[in-house]
Amino acid sequence: MEPTFSHRPVMPGECVDALNIKCGGIYADCTAGGGGHSYEIALRLGEEGHLLAIDRDTSAVAATAQRLSPFGGRVSVIHDNFSNIKFILGGRKLDGALIDLGVSSYQLDTPERGFSYMQDAPLDMRMNLDDPLTAAEVVNTYPAD
Ligand SMILES: C[S@@+](CC[C@H](N)C(=O)[O-])C[C@H]1O[C@@H](n2cnc3c(N)ncnc32)[C@H](O)[C@@H]1O
Repeated sequence: MEPTFSHRPVMPGECVDALNIKCGGIYADCTAGGGGHSYEIALRLGEEGHLLAIDRDTSAVAATAQRLSPFGGRVSVIHDNFSNIKFILGGRKLDGALIDLGVSSYQLDTPERGFSYMQDAPLDMRMNLDDPLTAAEVVNTYPAD
């Protein structure tokens, strides 16, 4: 059974303070994870602001959508790679963006995701489970060079 999505955001107050959020602005959390930083951003947006909360992991997207549901239409939770930000924005301009790079505790703690050496599990390592290519395929079938 998958663990409940659990990830403690890094210095949420300090990170989001540094964004210097203006009421009514448009912001992106490019690596939403469990929605910890997104939640802090959403709290500061005001009624007219908007947050795009993006993650390439469907489990993160589900956790963030649930966590941010009290903010209604002021938040869009998007399953995508943030490298597609230009298309996601569709011409809108951002007032600020947060990128908290890395893996989430949830990804490390879920053995079948294959990110951790702590459990004996398949070598998967896909951040987006819709991607076909696993680390096991690369390691076991690609030529060394
Ligand atoms: C350290 S966690 C972010 C935690 C988040 N700040 C929070 O408060 O819960 C990193 C997240 O980035 C996501 N991620 C990594 N590379 C990504 C990419 N290129 N596009 C979108 N999400 C990405 C991972 O799936 C993971 O959920």
